[in-house]
Amino acid sequence: MPNRITSFDEYKREYQRSVENPEAFWAAKADAFQWKQKWDKVLEWNFTEPDVKWFLNGKLNITENCLDRHLKDKGDQQAIIWEPNNPDEKFRTLTYKELHAEVCRFANVLKNNGAKKGDRICIYMPMVPELAIAVLACARIGAIHSVVFGGFSFQSLADRIHDASCSLVITADGGFRGAKDIALKSIVDEALLQCDSVKKVIVLKRTNTAVIMKPDRDLWWHDEIQKVNDDCAAEVMDSEDELFILYTSGSTGKPKGVVHSSGGYMVYTAYTFENVFQYNQGDVYWCTADIGWVTGHSYLVYGPLLCGATTLMFEGIPTFPDAGRFWNVIDKHKVNIFYTAPTAIRSLEAMGLDFVKPYKLNSLRVLGTVGEPINEEAWQWYHKNIGKEKCPIVDTWWQTETGGIMISPLAGITKTKPSFATLPLPGIQPVLVDEKGNEIVGNNVEGRLCIKFPWPAIIRTTYGNHQRCFENYFSQFKNLYFTGDGCRRDEDGYYRITGRVDDVIKVSGHLLGTAEIENAINEHPDIVESAVVGFPHDIKGWGIYAFVIPEHQRSDTDQLKKEIIETVSKYMGAIAKPDKIQIVKGLPKTRSGKIMRRILRKIAEGEMSNLGDTSTLLDPSVVEEIKTGAIK
Ligand code: WTA
Repeated sequence: MPNRITSFDEYKREYQRSVENPEAFWAAKADAFQWKQKWDKVLEWNFTEPDVKWFLNGKLNITENCLDRHLKDKGDQQAIIWEPNNPDEKFRTLTYKELHAEVCRFANVLKNNGAKKGDRICIYMPMVPELAIAVLACARIGAIHSVVFGGFSFQSLADRIHDASCSLVITADGGFRGAKDIALKSIVDEALLQCDSVKKVIVLKRTNTAVIMKPDRDLWWHDEIQKVNDDCAAEVMDSEDELFILYTSGSTGKPKGVVHSSGGYMVYTAYTFENVFQYNQGDVYWCTADIGWVTGHSYLVYGPLLCGATTLMFEGIPTFPDAGRFWNVIDKHKVNIFYTAPTAIRSLEAMGLDFVKPYKLNSLRVLGTVGEPINEEAWQWYHKNIGKEKCPIVDTWWQTETGGIMISPLAGITKTKPSFATLPLPGIQPVLVDEKGNEIVGNNVEGRLCIKFPWPAIIRTTYGNHQRCFENYFSQFKNLYFTGDGCRRDEDGYYRITGRVDDVIKVSGHLLGTAEIENAINEHPDIVESAVVGFPHDIKGWGIYAFVIPEHQRSDTDQLKKEIIETVSKYMGAIAKPDKIQIVKGLPKTRSGKIMRRILRKIAEGEMSNLGDTSTLLDPSVVEEIKTGAIK
């Protein structure tokens, strides 16, 4: 791709151009792709509805750009290297030719089962190549994929399937994660009791777990694939046709379906992949994120494949069979670029250097982090022990809603500073505002992070409810996209994200809504009400602190807490299990019945004095009781 920035001066020039004339800037980037019909206007936008359109009337199919376009020169190059959970199982590779054929074949399976352009298809699978194949097969036929992370449980899955009225679910009998296997198909069965939109379920055999196949609904992947060939023309998609929905947590209990469209997302993920990581042809690139999260969508599947890269996909977890697994995989596949989450770095740091020492790690050239702020200590550990002080670290800030990386160093080009995401990428115009929305200018300032001009991969809507998109992101501050993050701009104009300023918590890099966790806790028959807040956690970044009111006094509080944890795992997933549960008689509420989370947050953080104004509380004495029983 001809869009690679190679020096800091060039970055500055490109940035300048992108701000002075965004249309010309992005049109030049988009020119590098294969369009079935060229756009006739680059951009139309307002942030008041919001309504953003890029590359208007352009026609394309993103899979032709990910696959077909590379067949001539790179057909035999590895597109995907897949490393299984168990190191004794053989790894798999798929060349571009093979991946293209598999995607076309599975696209035909989808068509055979009635799927067509615009249908929503839910994908709930383990990290196996068939997951990437399923995603691309949906895009091939113009069906909108909605991938749900395999760590979510049946209620979260059901909510997501229901919200998008999916007609088809693609899953597996089970998935391996470390020493465990997770019975995905039976979770799907439970979820589907609540979702009658689903007509077909296609099941991949992975773990050989026994499953019940419902006649007329459930089909085996391996049977279906026998019935088709690998010839499947790519559906013609408009630039603004929806490519996928990805659910993210919000301040209410109901997850939001973030919608991305085809053309802008393609241009932006490819451009940012190439520039941030400084990908060289032939490099082996490894992003450890699950495809169930946006990082997996943009920087495991789409971005790398659009650039003709070799992308490594890992089924397992960093600590299985031991805490050296990441480093073992890097040496085994000679990984050049490694992209992971601060939580993983911190947890491996805590296991000690003995797990790192056996490995050379000399293939590494670039390191990256994503998903949460990285503290300086973890940054230094990563830099010294993994990068051997010679690999630049790209601390990439972005969101499900932004589609791609927004603020980040360009590897080896932007001077880094530990725990700073540094500077905006070309095309990105960040501003900091105060609570009233006044722009805070100059350096050495702190405020709420907003973006004032659209970029090609910006969220288009929240599925089925455009008003919610407006309210969540565009209503707080007029004519600005609000990120929900607090941010500092230092004396050099470098950005440092300080964390969320709303009711969502980043636990191990996973965004979880407190209301969604509360709903899961309240499923326990003995709990009448609960309130969840975050507290700083050494490894996970943030932990989950739950205050719960039981219906009646139970003497076996340990048992009750255990049951609450099991309830959350069952309804929402193990990722949302509370770390601390405090049983209380009441919650601090205003006279109008609103829980004052500010007070609970302070108590969870261990700050008992200085709780701020409590005079508006209905019953200030509950605060004393909560303080006394607070869990350290
Ligand atoms: C946080 C993940 C600090 C931030 C790609 C953001 C970060 C939220 C960073 C989005 C970073 C992401 N430094 N914080 N480099 N990257 N975040 O939607 O709070 O899962 O708003 O997308 O993660 O999380 P999401």
